[in-house]
Amino acid sequence: MQTLINPSPSVVAVTGAAAGIGAACARLLAGQGARVVRVVLMDRDADAGAQLAQELGALFIAVDVADGASVQAAFAALDAQCGRLDGLVNSAGIESRALLDQLSEAAWDRVLDVNLKGSMLCTQAAARLMRRSGGGAVVNIASIAGKRISYSGDMAYTASKAGVLGFTRHAAFELAADHIRVNAVCPGPTLTPMIHRSLTPARIDAVAAVVPLGRWVQAEDVANAVAFLLGPGAAMCTGTSLDVDGGVLVSNGTPYADYVAARQ
Ligand SMILES: NC(=O)c1ccc[n+]([C@@H]2O[C@H](COP(=O)([O-])OP(=O)(O)OC[C@H]3O[C@@H](n4cnc5c(N)ncnc54)[C@H](O)[C@@H]3O)[C@@H](O)[C@H]2O)c1
Repeated sequence: MQTLINPSPSVVAVTGAAAGIGAACARLLAGQGARVVRVVLMDRDADAGAQLAQELGALFIAVDVADGASVQAAFAALDAQCGRLDGLVNSAGIESRALLDQLSEAAWDRVLDVNLKGSMLCTQAAARLMRRSGGGAVVNIASIAGKRISYSGDMAYTASKAGVLGFTRHAAFELAADHIRVNAVCPGPTLTPMIHRSLTPARIDAVAAVVPLGRWVQAEDVANAVAFLLGPGAAMCTGTSLDVDGGVLVSNGTPYADYVAARQ
């Protein structure tokens, strides 16, 4: 990435930056050197977030993205320390794993609050800062679950990610006049702590076999797409979603090994 939509200096905030996809985004953006002046890591996990920020020479701010007051305080702290904001990556997210009959109201609310409301609250706070410097770019980490059934989460997770895609389109429309672009990345199966918590090693191996490109997505693959959407190469992209799924969506449920075997 060379510069964001605005000229340097650029400040980019990443939520969910203590682990997985958010951490990979923070590492990649911090590695952009002088072109991204500051990366601000935000997470509710203060220990892991502060440790990674120290390693990257970046700023860490604790936040619970589902809590409006916490988000306001976090972006006020960012403003006080950086004075501007040019990019936001909404990567904080959780999943739940219940069938409908066992899905509690609390679990539904928490997943929707973190994944969907959290993206809105952070975008709202970020947009107020971005407008001051003439624009910016937001990238929401949605999921192919927003387009199909989640392979590891449940209907709350799928609904939240479909909501993130709708939110992305509407925010892109509404914020275009402020020169704020809003896009989404839809990762497929991505090997992060979230997956290691929810799938057995055997299931992890089985998932790789249904990815047409033959392996799990890595968090760095998603970070590369995020950097593109933040950067000047995507200057006329807004309201889009970029699938980073190794071909899972195009396989349309077709067992890939069977498809190939039948043609050999
Ligand atoms: N791993 C996958 O296969 C996959 C696929 C598609 C989409 N996604 C999405 O990518 C994003 C990142 O997922 P991941 O796999 O890196 O997960 P992860 O669990 O490895 O990391 C998520 C991070 O978000 C933080 N977080 C959770 N709730 C928070 C809150 N309320 N406030 C602030 N921070 C919070 C956690 O502390 C953690 O550091 C999520 O939105 C997830 O839904 C993941």
